[in-house]
Amino acid sequence: MGRNADLHRRRGAAIARGVGHSLSVYAQRAHNAELWDVEGRHYIDFAGGIGVLNTGHLHPRVVAALQQQLQQFSHTCFQVTPYESYVTLAERLNAVAPGATPKKSILFSTGAEAVENALKIARYHTRRSAVLAFAGGFHGRTFAAMTLTGKVQPYKAGFGPLLPEVFHAPFPIAYHGITAQDSLAAIEQLFKADVDPARVAAVIIEPVLGEGGFYAAPPEFLRSLRTLCDSHGMLLIADEVQSGFARTGRMFAFEHAGVEPDLMTVAKSIAGGLPLSAVIGKAEIMDSPLPGGLGGTYAGSPLACAAGLAVLDVIREEHLVERAQQLGAALVSRLKALQVKYGAIGDVRGLGAMVAIELVKNRRADQPDAELARALVQAAARHGLIILSCGVYGNVIRFLAPLTIGDALLAEGLERLEAALAEIAPAAMAATG
Ligand SMILES: Cc1ncc(COP(=O)(O)O)c(C=O)c1O
Repeated sequence: MGRNADLHRRRGAAIARGVGHSLSVYAQRAHNAELWDVEGRHYIDFAGGIGVLNTGHLHPRVVAALQQQLQQFSHTCFQVTPYESYVTLAERLNAVAPGATPKKSILFSTGAEAVENALKIARYHTRRSAVLAFAGGFHGRTFAAMTLTGKVQPYKAGFGPLLPEVFHAPFPIAYHGITAQDSLAAIEQLFKADVDPARVAAVIIEPVLGEGGFYAAPPEFLRSLRTLCDSHGMLLIADEVQSGFARTGRMFAFEHAGVEPDLMTVAKSIAGGLPLSAVIGKAEIMDSPLPGGLGGTYAGSPLACAAGLAVLDVIREEHLVERAQQLGAALVSRLKALQVKYGAIGDVRGLGAMVAIELVKNRRADQPDAELARALVQAAARHGLIILSCGVYGNVIRFLAPLTIGDALLAEGLERLEAALAEIAPAAMAATG
């Protein structure tokens, strides 16, 4: 039995099956956009640990910052003995967040924790309890985040009772025939039939659905939500956990719409692989909860803060915002060429380097092919490429390669993708009908 198979057997025996798995490949080491498994096999990483590695595996600047921090201290708890890096990181996050209103930040460890706390802040500030979220959205696996998530299987089923007073509206998805007007009409309907908008504390939205399939909200829809929130005294929360930190060709995806959210949740690529998240928001709102109401033992750990500061330097110095635009254009153009050849690729879309293909049968948007997506993930791995599926129907392949990937490696990764498509070509071509 190979090392991967052996580890997989041990995993099955020792680890709760609730942790899903995409590949049975166990990592040994990684560098920038490349990874080697425990059997020495080489992979190009187009997954980045689910969008965590916009600055790549072990960026030298991040490694140096961590090494320096380890010479000093690894933990004090910010509530007990604070440290400068947390303060500086908050200052720098406030400075890069969209909009002119003065900002404040608070740090946590995971995306779900940021979402929970954004909701706490919104409720405290508005003294209201209800929340509006979107079908297909993903906000995490803790109780509030799970309730806000707009997908029952596997995230919510069996885990109830969930948070009360959470309502879901359809997310505007042109490919599936849902317009911004449809979504806005559904929200108006919710306000008529289900909840008084005067009870709604906040609307939370991913500017680009991540787990839900890489659909970008039309900019005019985000602007309409801003107006709607203002007219009803509701807060607008941008969940930028997956779309933030240069991924979409802007520092944050909300910038594409020119909209300033009241609160923003960030995590993933904020710290190059260290567990760190934040809520960034308008200072007056952020200061609503009393001291002690927010925080956590590990929240904003010194190691994570050191990495976070290095990541912000790398994004600026290596021009990763512009790089995301170039990478996205290169990816989309190559994937569109593949779409001509492989009828199973129903849609190619991207906002900056947040790029995806949607796999369908008979070239029909309403005939998702999740089985093909699963097969492609496995075939790609056999060809040395790590990709991830997503989407409400599991039929979307998303590309989240580090923005620091070189052109040659990107091209080689796309070659491997094509080889994988060719391997499962009978299925992919048959889908042309
Ligand atoms: C948009 C969004 N919000 C929240 C989360 C939850 O983050 P975490 O898994 O770090 O709790 C995710 C994770 O994929 C996400 O994509």
